[in-house]
Amino acid sequence: MTEHSGGGGVDWNAEAATFDEEPDHGLRDPEVRRAWARRLREWLPERASDVLDLGCGTGSLSLLAAEQGHRVTGVDLSPAMVERARAKLAGRDAAFLVGDAAQPPVGEQRFDVVLVRHVLWALPDPGRVLRRWWGLLRPGGRLVLVEGVWGAFGISAEVVSGLAEPLGGCVRVERLSEDSLLWGKDVDDERYAVVVGGD
Ligand SMILES: C[S@@+](CC[C@H](N)C(=O)[O-])C[C@H]1O[C@@H](n2cnc3c(N)ncnc32)[C@H](O)[C@@H]1O
Repeated sequence: MTEHSGGGGVDWNAEAATFDEEPDHGLRDPEVRRAWARRLREWLPERASDVLDLGCGTGSLSLLAAEQGHRVTGVDLSPAMVERARAKLAGRDAAFLVGDAAQPPVGEQRFDVVLVRHVLWALPDPGRVLRRWWGLLRPGGRLVLVEGVWGAFGISAEVVSGLAEPLGGCVRVERLSEDSLLWGKDVDDERYAVVVGGD
């Protein structure tokens, strides 16, 4: 995650071609990839589940979820990102849609997991967005929100967990800054996951 890789005003279509060059984006380094796979295995249900990856980018987390046996639907506003995600997951049980993560174009379909990494903080009215995402879950489903604060950008774990509390599910915060394998380097800013529900 660079300070330019999230937030309003970014031309995501232009970013798509080089997006995977960041270690935590492309997960090309086997150690970084393993670190994310380990976390995902903890965050996602053990049984094969329907996962909605919102703001999926080039599909790196979607691919890990698919490799763990889950069926994935990805949504991203950027056609260039979606094109890369489709190529990355070709032949897998996965579908990718161009659309707004704040209002995912999934009709009446419901999911076991809504997975979002580095997207929520840039959306207007994150509280309303979380309520909408919560409504996309089947009973017993969970939100997995991976976010952070990068200099002037981002959203803190305190704010996200405060917005998630009224949803009614158990809210668990997992700190990720000290796990340098996830980022491919040491970081000293705030990085975390908030998992809501799934209990
Ligand atoms: C920092 S990238 C994260 C990509 C992916 N979640 C990951 O962790 O590798 C942010 C992504 O969110 C997408 N995005 C930004 N605003 C969006 C919105 N309103 N709806 C859907 N996607 C959005 C961008 O196109 C970009 O692919």
